[in-house]
Amino acid sequence: MREHIEQLRAVIEADLAQITNAETLEQFRLTHMVRKGTVQKLVESLRTVPVAEKPAAGSAINAFRSWVEDEFQKRKDAFEGSAGVLLVDVALPARNATRGSIHPITQTVNEIVDIFTSMGFEVADGPDVEDDTHNFEKLNFAPDHPARDMQDTFFVDSERNDLLLRTHTSSVQIRVMENMQPPIRCIMPGRVYRNEAVSARSLAEFHQVEGLYVDKGVSMADLKGTITAFAKRFYDADARFRFRTSFFPFTEPSAEVDMSCFLCKGQGCRICKHTGWLEIAGCGMVHPNVLSACGIDPEVYSGFAFGFGVERVVMMRMGIDDIRLLYQNDLRVLRQL
Ligand code: DAH
Repeated sequence: MREHIEQLRAVIEADLAQITNAETLEQFRLTHMVRKGTVQKLVESLRTVPVAEKPAAGSAINAFRSWVEDEFQKRKDAFEGSAGVLLVDVALPARNATRGSIHPITQTVNEIVDIFTSMGFEVADGPDVEDDTHNFEKLNFAPDHPARDMQDTFFVDSERNDLLLRTHTSSVQIRVMENMQPPIRCIMPGRVYRNEAVSARSLAEFHQVEGLYVDKGVSMADLKGTITAFAKRFYDADARFRFRTSFFPFTEPSAEVDMSCFLCKGQGCRICKHTGWLEIAGCGMVHPNVLSACGIDPEVYSGFAFGFGVERVVMMRMGIDDIRLLYQNDLRVLRQL
């Protein structure tokens, strides 16, 4: 028995010398200190020792076992630190924590807002549940305008036709003008709602950004300058623009702005549907009726306004052609911007 213990001691000493990190420490434990390990086997071998030798053999084995345990503990302490700090193997590859990120729509709104605030615009906000006055009437919509129809607008209460989910952020323009006197420079991002079937091209709930500038002597030239300055910073420094006449009840004259496609530079590609142009906003000079309705004298002040859909902007930037992808939380899409 003595001899056997001495042999084992040599083996264990050699193995102790091999312990240099958490892994080799664990290997040592698995070889020698578990139920079927070297030490336990030695303890069990006591059964085969003749009765007369048992006491001596027993205490030799116990001493040996304590020695192994002490040596192991010393190394364990050395690697784990006495304060119980978990052992760190700096050579192990890092475990990546999965992090959330800002949604492409929010990122895009933030970038748009940053550019306008750098040009002196303030951010303004209004309620999602609006009344007819702010969403339509003061924006110069005629009483029989089709947008006021149930087909297009979500009404909040089936008994009332004056409470609705705003169909555009233009309602915030009205709230701003009711509450401020010129000079007014505001950018108004927000959610809007329309009673539309969900498809690759449209959603019933989406985002818009509205802009408004009212002061003495504001002209169409200011409108063009502001929108092109924004678009050059946001999309493409070399972009070309065209303003097409259009109609909105709340602006006169009204226009739609096209920009040369930032991807193909006007050559024609999938993003611009091979036209070379991208429609980026609706805009115009604030209608005198709208200014008057908000208590601003149209003889003294003039202004411009613009508005555009954020989802469309995000789709163009990401090169996707199904708007629903933005709301399905597929990480491959969300990580793309
Ligand atoms: N409110 C319009 C829409 O939802 C967008 C718009 C067009 C806003 C022209 C404006 C504007 O401020 O001047 O389609």
